[in-house]
Parts: sequence; structure tokens; C-alpha cells
Amino acid sequence: MCGIIGYIGHREAAPVLLKGLQRLEYRGYDSAGVAIFANGGSRDGILVRRSVGKLTNLDRLLQDQPVHGSIGMGHTRWATHGRPSEENAHPHRAGKIVVIHNGIIENYLDLRHKLQAKGRTFNSETDTEVISHLIDDYIQQGLSFTLATRAALKQLEGAFSIVVLCEDEPGKILTAKNATPIVIGLGEHENFVASDVPALLEYTRKVTFLEDGEMAEVTREYVTLSDFQGQPIEREPRTIEWDTVTAQKSGYKHFLLKEIHEQPQAIIDTMRGRILPEESDVSLGEFDEHSELLNSIQRIALVACGTAWHACLAGKFYLEELARIPVEVDYGSEFRYRNSPLERHAAILAVSQSGETADTLAALEGGKSLGLPALAICNVVDASIPRRSDIVLYTHAGPEISVASTKAFTTQLTALYLLSVYLGRRRGVLDEGRGRQLIDDLINLPAQVQEILTKTKHIEKIAKKYGHAKDFLYLGRGVNYPIALEGALKLKEISYIHAEGYPAGEMKHGPIALIDEEMPVVVLLPKDPVYAKTLSNMKEVEARGGRIIAITDAPSPELEDIAWEVIQVPTTNHLLMPILLTIPLQLLAYYSAVYRDTDVDQPRNLAKSVTVE
Ligand code: AGP
Repeated sequence: MCGIIGYIGHREAAPVLLKGLQRLEYRGYDSAGVAIFANGGSRDGILVRRSVGKLTNLDRLLQDQPVHGSIGMGHTRWATHGRPSEENAHPHRAGKIVVIHNGIIENYLDLRHKLQAKGRTFNSETDTEVISHLIDDYIQQGLSFTLATRAALKQLEGAFSIVVLCEDEPGKILTAKNATPIVIGLGEHENFVASDVPALLEYTRKVTFLEDGEMAEVTREYVTLSDFQGQPIEREPRTIEWDTVTAQKSGYKHFLLKEIHEQPQAIIDTMRGRILPEESDVSLGEFDEHSELLNSIQRIALVACGTAWHACLAGKFYLEELARIPVEVDYGSEFRYRNSPLERHAAILAVSQSGETADTLAALEGGKSLGLPALAICNVVDASIPRRSDIVLYTHAGPEISVASTKAFTTQLTALYLLSVYLGRRRGVLDEGRGRQLIDDLINLPAQVQEILTKTKHIEKIAKKYGHAKDFLYLGRGVNYPIALEGALKLKEISYIHAEGYPAGEMKHGPIALIDEEMPVVVLLPKDPVYAKTLSNMKEVEARGGRIIAITDAPSPELEDIAWEVIQVPTTNHLLMPILLTIPLQLLAYYSAVYRDTDVDQPRNLAKSVTVE
């Protein structure tokens, strides 16, 4: 989820680009850069300035090495391919072409090899650099800037929004979109391109959004839209009413709600380029070269903290059922001090959104000191945990700004599910038929998550009705017990209501003493093999006056009789149900926090990444 800004007009480009990138910093940054037609492109052509780290480093570089001109583009990078470095920072140049990009080019390696076979050399590890070489290659074949770009776009597979400059045409910016956003800002004798509205609002509120498969030629005076085949497109501009801060949340009241609603796309991006439905298989390039090691693993120790630990508890069910690998799950803070007997043919797998959690990192180091291979699932490229791991599977959730983890959690489950199918198929314990079904279910999942996200009013009403409660109990069985824990954590960490997650079958061994009319009890009740057992747990709760909030894919008159509230979710296989059941719990926690007027995105006492013990 990178930040993109382009400008063509009468102002000095550098300050416009820098300020626009600052407005987009919430989209994540590990490096940044600009490309500007120096002095109108007359003498020096396009000059590029790039720096690693915060935007202030780029600002300082531009002060030391200024570039004057009124046409250019800027980029803040959230790494997906290639570690954060100056070489990997955008913009990327090849010959006459300079490109910035947001997204994931799935077939970049294939294109890179073909271009290298034509004698082209690459300076970065990024998928983006392939785009600049591809366009330049067509330019060298005699195509115009626009036709060369269009020809290149047709070869790209995956998600991309790009802005392109060409040395030969200083009066024009090209931009194109597929699956990641591009918005064009329309000014007076100036026009803007950005990945998001906040970068534009200081200059114009008149915008045009590109749709997938569309590109635009942008000059000082006009913006011409077309599809990738060159068919012209007419579109009425819109006027944005948001202020900048609201725009950074895409109109949502809080980053947390925005990130809850980003989950369909985050799940799509995490599976992008990794599923092979026709082969009933999963492709994990980063794991393929370690196949001997992976086949030798006879036990996995999952280590994590907080929400990531809940993902590991569910991941245990995935790996044990699909890959037949025994799994133990430990808090990072526990494993690091436990004298683990793990040794040969075991592996340690750290799960972390930030990749900086001290306890999880220490646990990983502890596993490595036992001689175990170190695996990681992480959302931040080249963070401490990935850097200390032998093999990394990245989630592509994009930056998670809100302290409470939501899209990171569902993409961690997605990654663990992908890994389990990958290992199960390679170990010969997961047959083709089941593999295909598991992948088809995953492909359908984002739309099912989106369906739940259209029912927030019902959940908001429930949150208000029970928002006064002092305690909540969350119950779930099997692979949904971790979801009960996650739902309880979400509620307590953002609404400050005490909540406990418990295995539904354990309720009679103590917690039932807590049940009374004041205690809402959230019960996760998918139509699975233990449905009847959990239903009987609910009857025990109801008999003691508990207020039951049931979340299920199978409402029934019997359920309606004993539950005070029923939230229905779509149905899928029992291993993906945890992701669908999580969404209402996130929304319940969010609206409870709003009802209690807490600091939703920055709850008291909490930090986004706990980098200390
Ligand atoms: C969950 O909402 C919290 N933000 C917290 O429990 C978090 O999951 C935990 O600190 C682990 O963080 P990590 O995933 O970055 O390692």
C-alpha cells in the first residue's frame, strides 16, 4: 500500500510532491523518492532523488540536491518485493522511462527473465523495475510513449497503479490502474495524480477516479481517459467534501473501521499470486527452495503475542489437519524462558504483524539457538523478525495504523491456511480433490467477508444495547475457541469492557458461576460437527438468565428461542469459518468502543508494537 503523487502545472513540483507524500504517510513508508523534469525538461531531463526511511530524509536530500521543474512524481514505498533500500526505492528508471508503482505484479519474475534475455540489466529486487524496462523496450522498438505504455500494461498480471514519465515527452504524465487506487485531481492549468485523495485536497476538490483497466494522459490543460485497448472514456468529475484527516481514513470515522473494511482486499492481496486452483495447489516461491528442509519437519512451534497468538492457535488446527504436522503454540513471552526440549526435525514459526515484538523476536532467537530452522509470517518487509528468519511468508495487509489488530489477524489466518495447504500437498497427505475445494473456498472468502460488512447497522444496534455491561463472556469450540479469545481481546482492548474467551465445553467447569442477566454471552455457533454440543452449552447459559448473542451460519427456530440476538454469517469450510466469525466480533468491539467514547485508534496504555519486554 504505497503512496503515489504526480504533478504537472505551473508550480515548483518538488514542494507539491513532498507535501502530497506527507499527506500519504499513513499508507506506509520505508523509503521514498521523486522524479522531476528539471527546468522543464529542456536541459537535464528527468532527475531522480530517492532516500531510505522517513520522508524527512527525502526532504533533506532535496534541500541538499534541489531539482527545479514543474512536472514530476513522488512515491512512498511500503515494501512487498525487496527489502527497504535506496536501490529498491521508487521511482525506477530504465532508459527514457521513469515509473512509480503501487501493487504487486504477479508475473514480474517471468517478465524480468525475458527482459534480461534481451540484454537488459536490473538494479533492484523490485517488481516495479520490470515495468520501466518493459515500457522502455517498446519505446526502443519505435512505439510512442502512450502506445508503449499501453502495450506494457497488457502484459502485466496482478495489482498495479502506476505513474510514468518519458524523457521524450516532458509535457505529459501517464497513469494507469488495476486493483489499486488512482485518483486524478483537476486544477486550473495544472493537474494532479495520486493514490489517495488527501494528497490533492490542498489544491483541488474536483477529482476523477480511474477504474480497473483504465489509463489517463495528463497534461497541464487536459486529462484524457481510455481503457488499456485505447478506447476513450468520458467520466464526470466528482467533488470531494472531506477534510484531509477524514480523507486519510477514506471517509471512515476511525482507522480501525477503515481497516476492518479493508479485509476483503487484504485477504485478496495475501493470496494474490499464491493460489493455483487448476493444480489444486498453493505456490509459495519463498518456500520452494527449502523443500528438503520443509519435508523433514516433524513438529512446528508457533510463537507470537496477543492477536497473533490467537492466529497461531487457529493455525495449529490448519497445520495439524491439512499437513498432519504436530504443532505446539506458545506465547513469545513464555517460550523465551521455557527450557524447550525441541530439537531435530522441529521448526519455529513466528507470527507477527509488526515484526518487531520483543517477546516474539526473543522466542524466535531461542528456537534458533536450539538449532531449529526459523520461519516467519509477517506484515512488514525486512522487519527484525523477517530479517532473523530463514523463510518468510509475508501477509499483504498494508499498513495497520489502528493499535487493535484486525486485517493483520485475518491475513495471518489466510497465510497459515495457505501454508497448511502448501505443506499438506507436498507431504502427500492432502489429496487433490480436498486441495481444490480448500482453494475454491478461499477464493470465495473475500466476497463473503464483504457480505458481512454490509450488515454493520445490526451489529451497531447490538453494541449499543449491551454497551453498558461490565463483563462479557465469549464461547467457541475447536478452531473457533481462538476466535472467542480474539473477540474478547478486541472488546477489552478498545472498549475497556472486561471480557473473557473460553472453550464452550469448559463453561461448566467454573465460568458458569458468572452467568446472570447482566452478563452478555457471545457464542460462536457454526454448523459444524460440535454444533449440537455448543447449542446445549447455550441452553445452560439461557437457563441461568444469560443474555446470548449468537453468531452462526445456520440460524434456526431453536436458536432464535434461546438467543437474545442472532448475527448470521455466510457459510464456508470449517477451517475458514473462523475468519467469517471474526468480522462481527471486530465490529461489535468497534461499535462498543464508539458507544463508550474511548480512544478507538489509540486505546489507553496500548502500543501498536510492543518492542520491549
Ligand atoms: C492486538 O489487537 C494488539 N494490537 C496486540 O495484541 C498485538 O497483536 C500483539 O502486540 C502482537 O503484535 P505483532 O503482531 O506486531 O507481533
